[in-house]
Amino acid sequence: MSCLDDYRMTLKGREFLPLMVGGMGTNISTSALVLAIEKLGGIAHLSDAMLPTVADKELGTDFTKQKTILLKKFSGSFDKSLEKFDLAALAEVSDRYFRNVMDKVSGKGLVLVNCMEKLTMNDQLGTLKTRLNSALNAGVDGITMSAGLHLNSLKLMQDNPRFKDALLGLVVSSTRALNLFLKRTSSIGRKLDYIVVEGPLAGGHLGFGEDWRNYKLENIVKDVVQHVKECGLNIPVLGAGGVFSGQDDINLIEQCGAAGAQVATRFTIAQESGLPQQVKEIYLDSKEEDVVVNHLSPTGYLMRMLKSSPAITAKIHPNCESYGYMLSGGSCPYLKEFEAQEQGAIRRENSKCCLCTQMRNYKVWTCGTTVSKLKETVKRSASGWELPSAEQIWNDYRFGKNSK
Ligand SMILES: Cc1cc2nc3c(=O)[nH]c(=O)nc-3n(C[C@H](O)[C@H](O)[C@H](O)COP(=O)(O)O)c2cc1C
Repeated sequence: MSCLDDYRMTLKGREFLPLMVGGMGTNISTSALVLAIEKLGGIAHLSDAMLPTVADKELGTDFTKQKTILLKKFSGSFDKSLEKFDLAALAEVSDRYFRNVMDKVSGKGLVLVNCMEKLTMNDQLGTLKTRLNSALNAGVDGITMSAGLHLNSLKLMQDNPRFKDALLGLVVSSTRALNLFLKRTSSIGRKLDYIVVEGPLAGGHLGFGEDWRNYKLENIVKDVVQHVKECGLNIPVLGAGGVFSGQDDINLIEQCGAAGAQVATRFTIAQESGLPQQVKEIYLDSKEEDVVVNHLSPTGYLMRMLKSSPAITAKIHPNCESYGYMLSGGSCPYLKEFEAQEQGAIRRENSKCCLCTQMRNYKVWTCGTTVSKLKETVKRSASGWELPSAEQIWNDYRFGKNSK
């Protein structure tokens, strides 16, 4: 029986195990997790979700504190139109954070950054440009454009000296979204180096509507692979969402024409993952029926999480002066709901949460649909769960021969 190690995928002329660890915000994909995979010759993502806050924690910088002080005067108002991120400070903190990680790489694998279009930060294009370019300037191996429609992102990077040599990938959930991207960016003449097809079983935000159950990752991957061929392109396509074993990855390669897979949920419980120990245990104890797909995220995208996520019922004061990553045109859907509640409106079933604060505090327990299977991969002794290292999980994908 074959194992994933019998397979390779090629990115810009280099061969890799056909597996990527997807970015998990906020700081679940810690630098320790990403560097552990990179040292094994693998590919792993940092997530740039709330990066300044992550950097403050890891490097002792005070970007968030400075921002809070600067914007304090707006805290009493629900109109945040004048709240702006200091782009120079954003560039500086991104540069420091990414350089600090890249200083520690072995050169065997790749460190990519998962950059989300939906982090609107009250200046969607300005902040996106800063985030994309500072990551490139700091020397990360590549950028995966995720969570949103990145119709402007190539343009925002095209003057960067690393625009051609860095790896650039895109996450889509349909051929339609890919086609839109290809059409809108055709004049730029920069081809994608890889495409990640995120299916309906993935963790984090979903690129599907309420009818997500009607879609199957395998079918979307086949469709995207076919479309890429028809466009005369030669771009590796990776499947993501519910790929729990090396065998699942091989099935995507053999049956759907994928080049490999992007995975995340199995790494949530790695020793190096940023989730607090008690949350890792909640993931391990979870059952299939504990998972929900809901409207809690103010991004407008559906999100998968555990039903017991504390953020679902919490009503906290919005924290836009410190964070504000969801602000667009001076407001955010949670801010609007909070204002209405202050005026007596009743919290509805599909209410939003203050995603920034709740993600920062690890109170949104987002996960892929396979979270309830994690317990099958981990030993439990008298003293509790024996959490695996990132290397053990990686090697299980790499050398494991069981599909169950
Ligand atoms: C805890 C968690 C956090 C995630 N955070 C992000 C994120 O910040 N940005 C993003 O684009 N995708 C995010 N994802 C999606 C993953 O990168 C990945 O594509 C997907 O979860 C793969 O499916 P799997 O979890 O079933 O393996 C997250 C997934 C999980 C489980």
